[in-house]
Amino acid sequence: MFCITSINNKNFIMKKQKNDVLLKKLSWEEFNKLSPGKKIKFYESKGRIFDALYSQQFSRPLLEKLFAIATKIRFIAKEKPGLDWLQSLLSNKRAMLYFVQPSTRTFVSFQSACFILGMRVSEIRSTSTSSELKGETPEDTIRTFSSYVDLIVMRHFLEGMVEKSAWLLNNTKRPVRIINGGSGRDQHPTQALLDLYTLNYSFLMRGGIDNKKIAMVGDLKRGRTVRSLTYLLKHYKNIEIIYISPEYLKIEDDIKNFLKKNKMKYKETDDLQTALKYADAVYMTRIQDEYDINNESKDIDYTRFHLKYENLKLMKKDAIIMHPLPRRAEIDTAIDNDDRAMYWRQERNGMWIRAALIAYMFAIEDIILNFGENYSLKR
Ligand code: NCD
Repeated sequence: MFCITSINNKNFIMKKQKNDVLLKKLSWEEFNKLSPGKKIKFYESKGRIFDALYSQQFSRPLLEKLFAIATKIRFIAKEKPGLDWLQSLLSNKRAMLYFVQPSTRTFVSFQSACFILGMRVSEIRSTSTSSELKGETPEDTIRTFSSYVDLIVMRHFLEGMVEKSAWLLNNTKRPVRIINGGSGRDQHPTQALLDLYTLNYSFLMRGGIDNKKIAMVGDLKRGRTVRSLTYLLKHYKNIEIIYISPEYLKIEDDIKNFLKKNKMKYKETDDLQTALKYADAVYMTRIQDEYDINNESKDIDYTRFHLKYENLKLMKKDAIIMHPLPRRAEIDTAIDNDDRAMYWRQERNGMWIRAALIAYMFAIEDIILNFGENYSLKR
């Protein structure tokens, strides 16, 4: 008992010292003004990600490590003895899934990822069923979770709320890990991880992601998945991104500045047909009309940015079609059976890569990667 307490205290003190040095008692407003590069250290502990909040936290070696962990988990989980073993790894940990913005895939895949690693899961899916209805602030709500769980996975409608929660908990005596499951129009880093894992897997026999042309189609102004994926593509060589959107929904300047700063090749167009002939991957997205201010989406002809069955013949034979989902009419359902349609596999990849991320954040990746050498199961 004494031993466990002292380990926890040691961890906490080490993290706290680091935070104190970095933070120098900055208020949230002051801290929030810092660039992601400056903030990243504050969301790390002992040289590894403690809070996974934005794509800029992932380096190429870490991405490759996560891909390897995900693939290994996928392999081990295929059979009951393997899954039973995986489920013993984090059976002493609990997670809160706080998803107060609509979600199907991200929620269920995180729930499944926790299940694979044996974590117990609690959930809140609406502020109308938490004490926020009684006037409790989101900040106090988050702090309450930290009394009960070891990990909070969070999707919030307020831009920046996930990061603010991580900042807040890191300033308490009980910081718990936070993963961003989607925050406003801003970032969706774990979607970017699963998108990249899918690209990597699809191009394994074709030299990997390097040198590929990736078309991103649709609402690029408000789609957080496109933003987060763009940040990660920086780690690959000679990538070309073709952004295809209606004029009003073009990718915003902050992303263009990022591309220029990192000398990444990109084009902008509204001509989907031409881009289809050229792209190795076509990443479709829906219109994000929940972010409309004055119903502006209704004046946009989005059908020009739909992938129709007859468009398939324009595409390369070995190109892939992706979509973060949910879809409306951006992709004809008739396309679902085409070999190039990757979106259902992409959604399932979300479960594996999220399990990999959680395993890495709890520092159990080596025992997973060594499975079969040091930890083979007796059948
Ligand atoms: C995306 C999201 O929530 O940003 N969905 C998801 O997480 N798979 C894309 C979307 O809602 O259009």
